[in-house]
Amino acid sequence: MTNNVINIAIDGPAGSGKSTVAKILANKMNLIYLDTGAMYRAIAYFFIKHGIQPNENEKINKKIDDINMEIKYLDHTQFVYINGVDVTGKIRTNEISMAASTISKNLVVRKKLVTIQREIAAKFNCVLDGRDIGSYVLPHANIKIYLTASPEIRAHRRNKELMESGASDNFETILKEIIIRDHQDMTREFAPLVRAEDAMLIDTSNLSIEEVVTKIEKLCAKL
Ligand code: DC
Repeated sequence: MTNNVINIAIDGPAGSGKSTVAKILANKMNLIYLDTGAMYRAIAYFFIKHGIQPNENEKINKKIDDINMEIKYLDHTQFVYINGVDVTGKIRTNEISMAASTISKNLVVRKKLVTIQREIAAKFNCVLDGRDIGSYVLPHANIKIYLTASPEIRAHRRNKELMESGASDNFETILKEIIIRDHQDMTREFAPLVRAEDAMLIDTSNLSIEEVVTKIEKLCAKL
């Protein structure tokens, strides 16, 4: 990087383990963790709340300049505020996952969020997770990782997580949603989910979180 900040980019599809790994790395290396998916989720939530669906591009484009997004940190946890309101607790539903994927196809939305992401990355040592960090947002990131795992394993992880918090077994539906979301994220026109040529590919299907973190730490030791 030009100004000596450290940027680590972790990309990959839903459920590949990005956020868990990124959080652990951030804590160990004393970096800020920027969850860029939460930003798309927050925008999707805002529009749905205002009666605008995530594919209504004209309406979204007209209103986008009225949105002020702020990212704040408390005890190493990221909070997303829209126009002064903390929406962090509202954005983890299945509906918002799909809506975020749909709204992320909108070029105007992407440009707005990418600008914020680049501003944060230019100021702070940070690890960012998302879909296009290494390939588009920060092509000169110090370290680029692309995490992946089979759709079945990713659906199984998500299902387990939800069941642990009281939901009933929903494996088949979650698997279907993951496949749709992958397709939508990988085939969109602008900055799709793709492995950057210089990103290290890690298939997490048969690895523990600790094993993934150790692999990345080894790479980071060279920084
Ligand atoms: O990582 P996540 O599941 O919270 O992301 C939700 C959606 O947001 C994802 O399906 C696509 C979109 N997204 C994106 O297009 N670019 C990013 N850098 C991060 C997320």
